[in-house]
Amino acid sequence: MVNLKMKMMRPFRVLSDIAFAALLATQLAAADSPREHLSLDANWKFHLGDDWPDALHLENSGTGGGPASVEFTDAYWRVINLPHDWAVELPFDPAADGSHGFKALGVKYPTNSIGWYRRTFELPKEDEGRRIWLTFDGVFRDATVWVNGWCVRRHEGGYYPFREDITDVVHFGGENTIAVRVDATRSEGWFYEGAGIYRHVWLDKTAPVAIAPDGIFVASEFEKNIPQGSPKIAVEVRLLNTTTNATEAAVNCEIISPDGRSLEKFSESEKLKRKSQGIVKLEAKIPPPVLWSPESPRLYQLVTTVSVGGKSVDQKETLFGVRTVGFDPTNGFLLNGKHYELYGTCNHQDHAGVGAAIPDALQEFRVKKLKEFGCNAIRTSHNPPTPELLDACDRLGLLVLDESRLMGSDSGNITKWDDQIRRDRNHPCVAIWCIANEQFTVQDTPQAANVALAMQDYVEQLDPTRPITYASPEDNVFRGINSVIEVRGWNYHYGPQMDNYHAEHPSQPNVGTEQASVVGTRGIYTNDQPRGYVAAYDVVWPGWTTTAESWWSFFAVRPWLSGAFVWTGFDYRGEPTPYWWPCINSHFGILDTCGFPKDAFYYYQSWWTTNIVLHLLPHWNWPGREGQEIMVQAFSNCKQVELFLNGVSLGKQAIEPNSKLSWQVKYAPGILSAKGFDAAGNVIAETKVETTGDATQIQLTPDRKAINADGEDVVVFTVSALDAQGRAVPVAQNKIKFALEGAGRIIGVGNGDPSCHEPDVFVPNVPESSVALNDWRWHLAKVPHNSSTVPEYANDFDDSAWNTLNAKTSGGEPTIKTPDTTAIYRAHFTLTEEDLNGAGAQVCFAGCDDEGWYFVNGQFVGESHDWQAQPIFDIKKFLHTGDNVIAVGVNNAVGSGGLNLNVNVEVFGKASVPPWSRSLFNGLAQIIVQSTRDTGEIKLTASANGLAPATAAVQTQAYAPHPAGP
Ligand code: GAL
Repeated sequence: MVNLKMKMMRPFRVLSDIAFAALLATQLAAADSPREHLSLDANWKFHLGDDWPDALHLENSGTGGGPASVEFTDAYWRVINLPHDWAVELPFDPAADGSHGFKALGVKYPTNSIGWYRRTFELPKEDEGRRIWLTFDGVFRDATVWVNGWCVRRHEGGYYPFREDITDVVHFGGENTIAVRVDATRSEGWFYEGAGIYRHVWLDKTAPVAIAPDGIFVASEFEKNIPQGSPKIAVEVRLLNTTTNATEAAVNCEIISPDGRSLEKFSESEKLKRKSQGIVKLEAKIPPPVLWSPESPRLYQLVTTVSVGGKSVDQKETLFGVRTVGFDPTNGFLLNGKHYELYGTCNHQDHAGVGAAIPDALQEFRVKKLKEFGCNAIRTSHNPPTPELLDACDRLGLLVLDESRLMGSDSGNITKWDDQIRRDRNHPCVAIWCIANEQFTVQDTPQAANVALAMQDYVEQLDPTRPITYASPEDNVFRGINSVIEVRGWNYHYGPQMDNYHAEHPSQPNVGTEQASVVGTRGIYTNDQPRGYVAAYDVVWPGWTTTAESWWSFFAVRPWLSGAFVWTGFDYRGEPTPYWWPCINSHFGILDTCGFPKDAFYYYQSWWTTNIVLHLLPHWNWPGREGQEIMVQAFSNCKQVELFLNGVSLGKQAIEPNSKLSWQVKYAPGILSAKGFDAAGNVIAETKVETTGDATQIQLTPDRKAINADGEDVVVFTVSALDAQGRAVPVAQNKIKFALEGAGRIIGVGNGDPSCHEPDVFVPNVPESSVALNDWRWHLAKVPHNSSTVPEYANDFDDSAWNTLNAKTSGGEPTIKTPDTTAIYRAHFTLTEEDLNGAGAQVCFAGCDDEGWYFVNGQFVGESHDWQAQPIFDIKKFLHTGDNVIAVGVNNAVGSGGLNLNVNVEVFGKASVPPWSRSLFNGLAQIIVQSTRDTGEIKLTASANGLAPATAAVQTQAYAPHPAGP
């Protein structure tokens, strides 16, 4: 355990001053505030496969079957922490859906497509009277949630949060069981989407009068939207009164500046009727603020306290930014009143090693990678994002186009739109909402225009501060959605059509919602269809794509277009364009799936940043191609670039703004180098690529030297291979093995190879054997079947005179023919010493009509009271080598009944974890390591045949983890 003093002294989570102040405030105020916001991410049990298709009972409440019932053992399920994506664990299969990454998931793979999660938590008796909320930030997909056997929620879809007030069905002063069935059989997108509880889960305990979930809206307003002088801070607080009494609640607000100063305190009261909601509106002026922007992402904090009868009953901290956004038909996107070019990228939530289950620290890692090449905006294509991505964008400075999953004005879709807007509208990073992407079939119809208008009106009510757009795949078309949408979005079609459209509709602002789709594989310079690789030169291919140079040159000189979002920032699994199997992921990224830069990174860095950039491609290891011509390109923002091979000049070329340079060079090993010149002819940059020797040693480079010991933080190691002179070998493909010691766990490996079929995760393998208990003896007996003193349950009881029954031949006939009758059933099984040396064993029953009491070797293991229950009991501690006996006392209450004889004993061997490994792809691989809650050191060792190994150490520092549920 970390003591509070240490937690406060060592704030290693990367937070702004204000966020850290907020964290401290939360910790210190916890004792006074009845709200507890607890993480339920740790210690879930997971089982892949739908072995209990009848778990959902529609005829009775509170009686979920199989894992949904409380009387079920998950003792031999795998322990996992959230976020979790089981799709990443599945094998590749050429017969699977390539657009989703050829993972063995979906309709053809029923056993891989449904997963079960279970977790228990305790609630102390003292919590009685509080409201208990369970929130899932996102589950892919269709989730059914039970709490203590009660089905509390069925939620369709994979990208929206859902929550329930579960107060009525929890046990105060006892244990509570959550079971979640996740069905990822169907997909929603045409790209990899993951499977499972891939976002956080929370347990909130609140007072009966409290702030409603996502119940705070804070917005800054300047006169005429011109960010000068003192802004008005408008706050709206939605309150819930769950009591049966009317009451009056006071809402007190305090605004704290980015440097931690209290700026303003203001309050309002509201009378709340019994069992009702109320909205409190407040406002205040603050002194001229520090405006939020990607370059200066300074955050204010609103502390909202609710009190009833003078006693504080709830408190929430909300980070917000003071800034204005707008889209103008002539000047494009306006941030804080000035034209601001959007250097955007579209991104799916998918990363090497972990798939869709991206830890918060990895979200931050990805945002930083995007910023490195000048990206200042992301489009969360094609769905609402994970909340922590927005937190990272607020903190690090990245604007967001926040997209819905499906367009619709029906109640279901509007409810989701409502959830998305309420959840995300306080984030200063969110600049615009996007109602949908490429609705080819309906987009030109009057009905689609109606739906777009309805969604637009809805935004007007919930968030009048931001406009909406639609990612339209059309050119100069002004029908349907395009004719009513506030900001015209452009997916592709740059060129004269855009100019014509703008001339014909001069009052409609525009934004490039999706451009480029340039394909290229990191470190590859020849198209190679059999291996699924595409040359990383900036060339047009396949048909609908454009080069980075061509689309950007067009946008760069048209400020009215607002800039655009490149398809894509990162590669992602699925859409293996332009090839198919064996290629399993896309090639569109400026970065690969690990975040390693492709050459395009330097094109954008040249024109999207003020850094001096000079980059040469390709690498210079081409044995066997001596004397042949190789295309060399330079991405640079210098005025001129001179190229040299082994010191001999190959000519100087001038670079037009937003362009790139090319040479044909006869290959000779050695040094290809370049000098970059400014307008006055001074050398301002130099670079080189060298022919290297073979790899001789491994290099491990962590992205940070210390991470937080909170069980959530991650360190990302780059694995590379060096030659004898210490130069990175760009073609190395060595298979690297990893070993980890200390306060961490490996959560994924990757290498950015779009055709690599090696596993990204290595899950423990548990050998499993199953024994069917076919031969039974039984007799009717009026016995106190719930007592372990009954001799018939004992191991050595002589049952030879009882009736015999065989599970295979009995035909499933109920054995007890009369109501209100009891019977005892017995069966034997044999275990070896090896069986008992494994992980353990469980017994699985297929049903017991109506009630059962279960014994192993004379000892009570559990009971069931629902004829549909299929209980499973952990029997490890009752077993011995040789003969073992299972005995069941059964009470048939009505009709006929008895024990369903399909009973299996499942024996689990010792778990073995295969060693983690990954091949380098063109010289690089990545390994992602998560902290535990232990402070100390993480030591990672990488080794490979024929290479000198490498070891790297990272410290894990004391840090306050999210308060966790018990
Ligand atoms: C777009 C689509 C994206 C992606 C892209 C590939 O039309 O919106 O999701 O499929 O094409 O080029």
